[in-house]
Amino acid sequence: MVETLVLKVNPKQPELEKIRVAAQVVRKGGLVVFPTETVYGLGANALDDAAVLKIFKAKERPADNPLIVHIADGDDLHILAEHVPSEAKKLITQFWPGPLTLLLRKSELVPDATTAGLATVAIRMPSHPIARALIAEADVPIAAPSANLAGRPSPTTAKHVLDDLSGRINIVIDGGAVGFGVESTVLDLTTEVPTVLRPGPVTVEELGQVLGEVKVHPVAKAEAPAEVVVAQAPGMKYKHYAPRAEVILVEGALDGMVSKIQELTVKHKSAGKKVGIMATVETARKYRADVVKVVGVRRKPKTIAKNLFKAFREFDEMGVDIVLAEGLKPKSIGLAIMNRLRKAAGYNIVRVRGSTKRLRSNAKRGFYKS
Ligand code: TXA
Ligand code: MG
Repeated sequence: MVETLVLKVNPKQPELEKIRVAAQVVRKGGLVVFPTETVYGLGANALDDAAVLKIFKAKERPADNPLIVHIADGDDLHILAEHVPSEAKKLITQFWPGPLTLLLRKSELVPDATTAGLATVAIRMPSHPIARALIAEADVPIAAPSANLAGRPSPTTAKHVLDDLSGRINIVIDGGAVGFGVESTVLDLTTEVPTVLRPGPVTVEELGQVLGEVKVHPVAKAEAPAEVVVAQAPGMKYKHYAPRAEVILVEGALDGMVSKIQELTVKHKSAGKKVGIMATVETARKYRADVVKVVGVRRKPKTIAKNLFKAFREFDEMGVDIVLAEGLKPKSIGLAIMNRLRKAAGYNIVRVRGSTKRLRSNAKRGFYKS
């Protein structure tokens, strides 16, 4: 156990004297949690194996799941990557600093501990002023996975971080709630056609506009468990978040989804289960359950992304047995949300259409697991 210092820092204009304290800890091989525009990151000097190994230990992360290296200066890319292809240059101009992680062949400088022994390294330049100030002041690239215990939802506030990691880290920089709420887009630039391995705030559509052609890995769509598709990276096989509750994701036309969720609520309640519904502003009034939580506005899926992980944590805290969640169109930021939801549901997905007639015929064809 170490004593965890909480440093409250202004997210718009980080106080330099506080950033310096945290940067010193990074330089000395310690663990500093900091906010980024996506989620909070658990940071250590990416070039120091011993420091990086502390990250794995603190979050109980399997050693074969590689880390993202965060930089504040675009020139560092050329030091960390063996080669920077022209696609990378175009993407950086457009999306850095920001929530896009690029996978490139690594240089000799990057230790195996950081990349879990892989020949590639994941690199991103965050846009959050605190993250940027910390990396610049530490003057080393910072390896940082999401600052949660392995298997828990990524943290979007300093409280979430402390709930998971208090006593395991030296410093948490509390910069308030993060912006996007889902982790960065991970794009593999080592494949013939650039391939999205994890959908995030920089959308497939936006990447396509810059690159022309872009593929989406089946694991990124999360339509089937990673074990059944070829794993590009060891990290892809890990289930992101296994809630205590059973999550059932209902996908399809809105009216069909709502009636299916109502039906499932009745079914599970009568079996004595505590049921929670992850609802939206548009649908919340239609539900009666033990807990109905509004996660955001369907018409503005960014609002859903922002609250998603917080909602998961709250359902767990309330001890619900079953969480019923509404699906979204897997487009734009909706793809990132659906990726997280499908994984949280352990691929326990109920697909519905608009009309009840269709619902019945789907049921006969065995579309439903419940
Ligand atoms: O938004 C984010 O990306 C946050 C913030 C803190 O920057 N970080 C984050 O890190 O989500 P993490 O470790 O929770 O997720 C990184 C993902 C993992 O799925 C990992 O397997 C993958 O990126 N990854 C990292 N390096 C890789 C590599 N060399 N090859 C393939 N996948 C890699
Ligand atoms: Mg993570």
